[in-house]
Amino acid sequence: MSTQTLYERVATHLGEQIRRGVLRAGERMPSLRQLGRDQGVSVSTAVEVYAQLERQGLLEARPRSGYFIRAMPAPGAVGARAPARLARTPQPVRQPELLCVPEELTRKARMALHSATPAPALLPGAALHSALQRVMRRDPDAAVRYAAAEGVADLRLRIAERYARVGVDVDPEEVVITAGAMEAISLALRVVTSPGDVVLLETPTYHGLLQAVAALGLRVLEVPTDAESGIDVACLEKQLARQPVRAAILVPNFNNPAGSLTGDAGKRAIVAACTAHGVTLIEDDLYAELAFSGERPPPLRRFDTRGQVITCGSYSKMLAPGLRVGWALGGRWTQQLLHAKGFSTVATATLPQLAIADYLARHGLDPHLRRLRRALADNAQRSRDAILRHWPAGTCVGDPGGGLSLWVQLPQELDARSLYEAGLARGIGSLPGDLFSLRGDHRHHLRLSFGVPWSDAVDDALRTLGKLASTAAR
Ligand SMILES: Cc1ncc(COP(=O)(O)O)c(C=O)c1O
Repeated sequence: MSTQTLYERVATHLGEQIRRGVLRAGERMPSLRQLGRDQGVSVSTAVEVYAQLERQGLLEARPRSGYFIRAMPAPGAVGARAPARLARTPQPVRQPELLCVPEELTRKARMALHSATPAPALLPGAALHSALQRVMRRDPDAAVRYAAAEGVADLRLRIAERYARVGVDVDPEEVVITAGAMEAISLALRVVTSPGDVVLLETPTYHGLLQAVAALGLRVLEVPTDAESGIDVACLEKQLARQPVRAAILVPNFNNPAGSLTGDAGKRAIVAACTAHGVTLIEDDLYAELAFSGERPPPLRRFDTRGQVITCGSYSKMLAPGLRVGWALGGRWTQQLLHAKGFSTVATATLPQLAIADYLARHGLDPHLRRLRRALADNAQRSRDAILRHWPAGTCVGDPGGGLSLWVQLPQELDARSLYEAGLARGIGSLPGDLFSLRGDHRHHLRLSFGVPWSDAVDDALRTLGKLASTAAR
């Protein structure tokens, strides 16, 4: 038996007609009295029906003219920009323990659409295995001594050279090798901030960043990131003008989960605003090499003339998440980062660094990256098509130019956590949008990864999620 009240039933029915285009944008809805007669309900129920549709963003009331149907977002556009509840004052991260990837996901998800990592089949596992063996043969003591705190010299040089290709001048001496980008970001935060300081993050943003901030007792201001246009620079400027902010942690190149890319003009303006307000920029740049076009977008550091940016990156998304090798470009903070590294992990594990350096010397990065980007672009396109085909009307999906994340906006009446749970019960992993913000916003968004190679099984999983969403929407 339906648990919907009478007005909800009528509102759901009308909402579906609007989303399917049976009732068109701009059209005037029947008067309240007429609606009551048409649907066999009282005028007061009709009032509730229109109020519900208004809350869902489907209708707008025009004074003395009645109710009109609002334009729906174009298919594919991820409409919602700023969450309505963007806080103006800094807040501590509420219940950081809830921002973890649910433990049951890895156990239950046979189809791992939740993990923003290329599947092992897309990574050069065999070549890295050979590299590890070569390193062990060449240098049998590598595993029984510490690496230098700053990391293996050859690797530092290769990282600096790679940035030179996009016009960023990096001194190998400022490259601090870390256990993934996450350690680099945590060290940077430790060096730059003190407990109670305010940091600026995007919404949505990677939940690991929110965890790192919570662990250090920092307070957060948010700035919206739009799946299509990237970081809302005007809002960032306003937030910085309003109160003192110590650091900004941003993911301008293919944000996880939004998949968004902030353009060069936006990046330049962000660096200028942060510099003007004395805000240190901690840039999380680990997806940039996964640009489908093959043209790696520049990091914020490219626009930094005053040494305001600490750029962090890693090999996790392009080569091997399990080897745990990343870096920070420390600039004037290099010595402080090394000091913090000393009491964090002393030094990054020796063998993975040497293995990656060996792999790069033998194969370079580009041949593998070309294959990986092609596969990811193909997966992303097919996943989008499947979602637009099989999911209920009103679903919008981002169109990322790189990275690993598809940000899907469900029709307003659907709760992403319920869909996540229903999917997981059928072995399909996804992540609900409320993991990606300070206070559990983005409840109608789901993040899917396109790191799993395309197959009938992926198509089936997306179709199943679509069916579940359609059933829930009814
Ligand atoms: C935006 C972002 N930053 C950092 C990380 C962690 O990266 P790493 O494995 O290099 O520590 C992730 C992993 O998903 C991520 O999406």
